[in-house]
Amino acid sequence: MSPALVTLDRLRVHFPLRAKGFLSKTRAVVRAVDGIDLAIAPGETVGLVGESGCGKSTTGRAILQLYPPRVATITGEVHYGGRDLVALGRRGPGAMRPLRKDLQIIFQDPYASLNPRMTIGSTIAEPLKIHGLAKGSAITERVNSLLETVGLSPTMARRFPHEFSGGQRQRIGIARALAVNPKFIVCDEPISALDVSIQAQIMNLMAELRERLGLTYLFIAHDLAAVKHIAQRIAVMYLGGIVELAPADEVYERPLHPYTRALISAVPIPDPSQRERKRIRLDGEIPSPIDPPPGCHFHPRCPYAEPICKTDAPPLTEVSPGRFVACHPVARGSPFTVRAS
Ligand SMILES: Nc1ncnc2c1ncn2[C@@H]1O[C@H](COP(=O)(O)OP(=O)(O)OP(=O)(O)O)[C@@H](O)[C@H]1O
Ligand SMILES: [Mg+2]
Repeated sequence: MSPALVTLDRLRVHFPLRAKGFLSKTRAVVRAVDGIDLAIAPGETVGLVGESGCGKSTTGRAILQLYPPRVATITGEVHYGGRDLVALGRRGPGAMRPLRKDLQIIFQDPYASLNPRMTIGSTIAEPLKIHGLAKGSAITERVNSLLETVGLSPTMARRFPHEFSGGQRQRIGIARALAVNPKFIVCDEPISALDVSIQAQIMNLMAELRERLGLTYLFIAHDLAAVKHIAQRIAVMYLGGIVELAPADEVYERPLHPYTRALISAVPIPDPSQRERKRIRLDGEIPSPIDPPPGCHFHPRCPYAEPICKTDAPPLTEVSPGRFVACHPVARGSPFTVRAS
């Protein structure tokens, strides 16, 4: 396997919750991301899925060092281009600047991330100016070609964000991310806010851009179905940790972790021959990352929990080539005997 483009090594992101007031002390800590290892190969798309609040966006933003130190305590390492981004981030925004253009993010809500008072031409030109990548008429040419790249017309450059549909606005967000010729893009639920009829178009555009421009994606989504066509591998997150990591079709066809099985059994199955698949119902809410359960974080909701699951956190273990699971019974190779209804 080729060396990774981006490697997360025990990445942790904790948000201190401060009581209001002068000289306030940190009371509690939100352990949003709590020790993630992940190596993303050049040209690969890794899907990152899990329920709301499990730490997907925090992971994406922490890779890019988008949190000022007073907001989040980031530990562990993120390797890119022979540098540790966490160490650079700690040294302040200036230290990250030379690498910023390589690492971009596309947000869920393109409207919120576009300045309503700026024409989209200026919005796309802004990163080119900040990074000194083009001057004068070369800027206009580059903006026009970026608009064409994302399927919009250069004549639209003078218009404002409110004149565009949701899908078009997401295309503008993509054009702006592409302006600086990035290598790696965190796609944070880029299609979740769009009409279902538009979602496939944007997914296809992103897949095509990855091929054409040799991009690498961390593609965040709520459920596996949303990423199984675009991602080569899928990482399933639960309460700040990765519980399963495997090639996309394998996770989908033969999920191993009880949480992944529950996530998949929540998806309607159109193929009648597959309807036999046992449903695992997820009881209860995702617990708070302020005070996560001891042992395996999933044990209070797991129909297969054993005594060890309540005390010892299972490490992410390679149970067969390329398949990683953090689950005591699965790592031991014992098939699940308790069947959930
Ligand atoms: N700036 C912050 N300060 C304090 N807590 C935060 C902050 N940002 C996120 N959190 C908390 O960290 C946890 C993880 O949040 P995150 O946004 O990463 O989840 P997510 O998986 O992206 O969820 P969603 O699917 O809803 O987008 C949540 O409990 C959230 O409330
Ligand atoms: Mg999120």
